[in-house]
Amino acid sequence: MTGLEQLQITLNGKPRKWLVTGCAGFIGSNLLETLLQLNQTVVGVDNFSTGYQRNLDEVRELVGEERWARFAFIHSDIRDLETCRRAVRGVDYVLHQAALGSVPRSIADPLATNDVNVTGFLNMLVASRDAGVVSFVYAASSATYGDHPGLPKVEEHIGKPLSPYAVTKLVNELYAEVFARTYGFNSIGLRYFNVFGKRQDPDGAYAAVIPKWIAAMIRNEDVVINGDGQTSRDFCFVDNAVQANLLAAVAAEGSKNAVYNVAVNDVTTLDQLFVYLKTELSKSDIKFNKEPLYADFRKGDVRHSLADISKAVRHLGYTPAFKIKDGLAAAMPWYIDHAGQTGASRASG
Ligand SMILES: NC(=O)c1ccc[n+]([C@@H]2O[C@H](COP(=O)([O-])OP(=O)(O)OC[C@H]3O[C@@H](n4cnc5c(N)ncnc54)[C@H](O)[C@@H]3O)[C@@H](O)[C@H]2O)c1
Repeated sequence: MTGLEQLQITLNGKPRKWLVTGCAGFIGSNLLETLLQLNQTVVGVDNFSTGYQRNLDEVRELVGEERWARFAFIHSDIRDLETCRRAVRGVDYVLHQAALGSVPRSIADPLATNDVNVTGFLNMLVASRDAGVVSFVYAASSATYGDHPGLPKVEEHIGKPLSPYAVTKLVNELYAEVFARTYGFNSIGLRYFNVFGKRQDPDGAYAAVIPKWIAAMIRNEDVVINGDGQTSRDFCFVDNAVQANLLAAVAAEGSKNAVYNVAVNDVTTLDQLFVYLKTELSKSDIKFNKEPLYADFRKGDVRHSLADISKAVRHLGYTPAFKIKDGLAAAMPWYIDHAGQTGASRASG
């Protein structure tokens, strides 16, 4: 039996109370769905800045009314300390996901990114420390590796940040470490590497590459590759990230006050990704025959990203069950159902 299966049995037998910040977003709503399926009690906070009511509605439909009754939603903002204090009341495990993602967004508006990702994060740390939660797990980022040339990325070796977003995620780690040292409040940071899956927003200027390209292909629009197509990533299916969160939440004290890479240790170039997506869509009779368009490299982007995941495997019992192609196959039906319409017609949803 894997560590995850064991954990699922334990949680099912003795439900705990969880807080998921950013619960209306992509990763947050996937965490919410899994926790409710495991009959856990969940509090969620979101201000719908990049998340959607429709994500919550979808989770509700998937888990059914009985489990949904175990969920309490706070429509509010983590930049407000009182909101954070209210949200953590009586909570065992905090999974802090709320943030403004996207490197280009942070370059366009560093103040907003800093407010949410640094002030909001600090509010959540203070509130969680004061409430004496059992564990605090937060979304860190592979962006923290910055300009460090080493591959695969190992947690202990980071470079200089390449964007305001990367600065905020590095600051999260620094605060987490200082809270351990100063107050004995130990947390775990999960450095996600390009997570993808259902409910990841395909629309808008700051959409991530996989949902953006899938939507473009379904709508028969152009696909634009930033750079020469050889930029590479370690794409991580969201179920792997959910698994890492659950394992981190119940990790032994000795594995806390640490950061862990959350990915697959599998490299994919953007040119390869283009072919994988086309191939996966063709299995559902969606043929995309256009060639990709190549544009300039994007400012602030890391050139290559590949994770060494052995630390999470060793200390958390992390076993990523999905490689990129498995994840694309699992996520594609959702995109075919949801991304066919134009962004404009979905905006009201
Ligand atoms: N998706 C990835 O590939 C990836 C990679 C590295 C790190 N991360 C991190 O993972 C976390 C989740 O990312 P995601 O991809 O699910 O993004 P997302 O934008 O889908 O979700 C973030 C959620 O946080 C909410 N939020 C934002 N500001 C808030 C505020 N001030 N108060 C309350 N709620 C607020 C948004 O409305 C949204 O629902 C973020 O911290 C992100 O930086 C994601």
